[in-house]
Amino acid sequence: MLSVQENLPVEFSEQLLAKFAEVVSRYPAGKQKSALLPILHLVQAEYGWLSTDAMDKVAAYLQIKPIEVYEVATFYTMYFLKPQGKYALEVCRTGPCCLVGAERIMRHIEQRLGVKEGEVTPDGLFSWRGVECLAACGFGPVLQIGPEYTFYENLTEESVDALIDTLKNKGLGQ
Ligand code: FES
Repeated sequence: MLSVQENLPVEFSEQLLAKFAEVVSRYPAGKQKSALLPILHLVQAEYGWLSTDAMDKVAAYLQIKPIEVYEVATFYTMYFLKPQGKYALEVCRTGPCCLVGAERIMRHIEQRLGVKEGEVTPDGLFSWRGVECLAACGFGPVLQIGPEYTFYENLTEESVDALIDTLKNKGLGQ
């Protein structure tokens, strides 16, 4: 994954543009705007998040207004509008998970990683945030990690520690 600092311009690679073209080809001529969501996913997979410059360039590519891209990117929580850690932990903070300890798990993650919600650890490996229901309500507390959106259920402080240790070893080894 490439890394983009805030406010620095991006230049889409030939390979990425080829992927854009393939996605656009799935839709009827003149309906290229329909490719917006998958193209934003491709951009996020490449850079880890959606910078304003990247969104503006997507708008230019699809021949739509930048505001049309911002509206979509700010509506769906699967799009990141700030740089994230390599592993972005998303903890369900909706009622049923809170009843079984989601807030305790979030406090533990904050303490363990040493960063507040939305911040990135100095080594660039982790960020975390609370999100709404992840549709695994019977298995809470639960978290997911993108971009594959792997689920971890029935969390305890111990299982969170083990997960962070595993990811840390994996992340530092790459
Ligand atoms: Fe947590 Fe639904 S309330 S997954």
